[in-house]
Amino acid sequence: MDRTVYLNGAWVAEGEAKVSIFDRGFLFADAIYEVTAVIQGKLVDYPGHVARLKRSLGALGIAMPVAEEVLLELHKQIARRNGVEDGLIYLQISRGVQDRDFVFPETMEPTFVMFTQKKKVLDNPKWKTGLSVKTVAEGRWSDRQIKTVQLLYSSLRKTEANREGYDDVLFVENGHITEASSANFHIVTQEGVLVTRDLSNALLHGITRGSILHLAREAELVVEERAFTPQEAKSASEAFVTSATSFVTPVVRLDGEKIGTGETGPVSGKLLEIYIREQLAAGIPVAS
Ligand code: PDD
Repeated sequence: MDRTVYLNGAWVAEGEAKVSIFDRGFLFADAIYEVTAVIQGKLVDYPGHVARLKRSLGALGIAMPVAEEVLLELHKQIARRNGVEDGLIYLQISRGVQDRDFVFPETMEPTFVMFTQKKKVLDNPKWKTGLSVKTVAEGRWSDRQIKTVQLLYSSLRKTEANREGYDDVLFVENGHITEASSANFHIVTQEGVLVTRDLSNALLHGITRGSILHLAREAELVVEERAFTPQEAKSASEAFVTSATSFVTPVVRLDGEKIGTGETGPVSGKLLEIYIREQLAAGIPVAS
């Protein structure tokens, strides 16, 4: 393969085209794409693809990286440069490069790539034989126990919440809280019971969550793993999130209402203290 691809305003040999590992397309799936077919040197349904591209970019708040006339010229040129009479033109635009953070700034320099794939689009044997298919459960994306980089929705909602003055969001499904954008969420009831969502494909199985529940049980707290509502969280005596980046961090307000006193509570404070102490004692030294 010896294609010329398009990368951020330049024509580059495919082997030379490099995108940063800090690109948000790579880290957060924060990118959109289009595929346009070429048959006998003609772009197929081009206006429809451009219209959808603009809708996708608009929905994510990513600026169109080039003017529309330039975009058409790029489609023509990339096909000509690669001798594509029949094939596909793939384009992808990501929000751009930033140190990893769920929250992104209002303006960023998008990453824009295009490449071609030669393919005999008009010579499709399946047009004669037809396809054989099977049904699977619709689950795009309902496998949240897998720690994938499909983080676009979480990133969009957290950024939006930040701009509204909140620190984070809690996702609610069928009336029950699943988790925060990038942390597990727990409450302590007025009776002192630690309630946390039970493990399933509805949420990520947090490593910190597991350790904290273990420490809580050791400290003789009653732990219940079950679904709970935002209303129950608002009536809790305290609440907190857990993650590898925040350890145990209290949550003091939900939808503008105080949780408990609206101040940080003793249970989360104690669990944070025990967790840090334990990890400082048992953590693996990097210097050995
Ligand atoms: N996120 N839930 C989600 C959706 C997460 O992304 C994370 C962690 C957690 C907590 O898991 P753990 O305790 O294993 O870190 C729960 C990391 C910190 C991140 O994306 O930055």
